Amino acid sequence: MKTGHDVAIIEVGPRDGLQNVAAFMETAQKVSLIRRLAASGLKEIQAGAFVSPRAIPQFRDMKEVVAGIISLPKVRYSTLVPNLQGAREAVKSGIEKLIFFFSLSESHNLNNVRQTKEASLKGLEVIQRDLAAEICVALATVFGCPFEGYMTTDHILKDVDKIANMGIKEITLCDTVGFANPRQVEEITVACLRDFPEVAFAVHFHNTRGLGLANALRAYDVGIRRFDAAVGGLGGCPFAPGASGNVATEDLVFMFNEMGIQTGIDMDALLKVSTFLKEILPGVILSSAVYQAGLPKTQITDWSCGAPGGDPPFPAHQDW
Ligand code: COA
Ligand code: ZN
Repeated sequence: MKTGHDVAIIEVGPRDGLQNVAAFMETAQKVSLIRRLAASGLKEIQAGAFVSPRAIPQFRDMKEVVAGIISLPKVRYSTLVPNLQGAREAVKSGIEKLIFFFSLSESHNLNNVRQTKEASLKGLEVIQRDLAAEICVALATVFGCPFEGYMTTDHILKDVDKIANMGIKEITLCDTVGFANPRQVEEITVACLRDFPEVAFAVHFHNTRGLGLANALRAYDVGIRRFDAAVGGLGGCPFAPGASGNVATEDLVFMFNEMGIQTGIDMDALLKVSTFLKEILPGVILSSAVYQAGLPKTQITDWSCGAPGGDPPFPAHQDW
């Protein structure tokens, strides 16, 4: 989707974030969270997942959440779906974009969605054929699996090929448990961009071991322009041992803003969303560095007098 900005930030907090929060968040609070995210300028928001309420009780009110947000203009809402049943329910609720997810590694797929990859791919084929919806595939464990370790680039390209062959035009390469490093990100994303120019690739990084932003920047440098992130740095897959928070939306937006790369997101409004989250989820740690530290008082926002290419503008009073 054209955004008029240099990069697209896809907010996954209401989905990846909340799936890892055990305490049930009231429907009205979820709707309020999503509305605030939309008001900060985010154009694509994952509102949750149509999954089994036994697997993820947090999303048992998915239909009601969608009913509360679907009329908001200018925002593309999507939900995760693991199978045909979830996809049908999502479309019936009014969702136009489905994120079908399965894992590159067989064992994580079995653990997460309780079916083989072959069954997931068959399900995807039927959804693509029978449902009138835009489909993006979120491919989990691309950069490593908690059960099987690292995946080879060949293996990744073979699965991407199967997905692309079905006519899917959007694929998100997911680092489900924070195994990725920048060199590996470069190798995998360069290969995907080279072999599948017709596909819009996004990346999805977790900051489990502190490399989330470094990975995002490497992906940007080689040509990726779509990035998942979760407000406050919430997130994690409950079916992947050791998974923790996503790259925080504030941190990613801050990095891009400071580099003069347009995101279209209002940082002050975004930070207020994290403050709201902390009020309604007081027990949850928000790992976002920008949320914790606040914005620098002498933030560089005007590149006209310096970099890129030249010296960065140095304000008279630094606040370090
Ligand atoms: N949404 C809601 N309910 C669903 C469903 C869906 N997408 N798919 C299946 N179900 C229900 C069935 O209706 C059935 O209900 P019943 O027992 O009341 O008749 C029940 O789940 C079992 O169906 P089955 O096909 O045997 O599913 P399962 O128990 O093997 O679970 C999944 C498969 C995919 C539904 C389940 O593992 C799941 O929802 N996983 C979510 C994983 C996730 O979100 N991970 C985080 C993202 S990385
Ligand atoms: Zn994730």
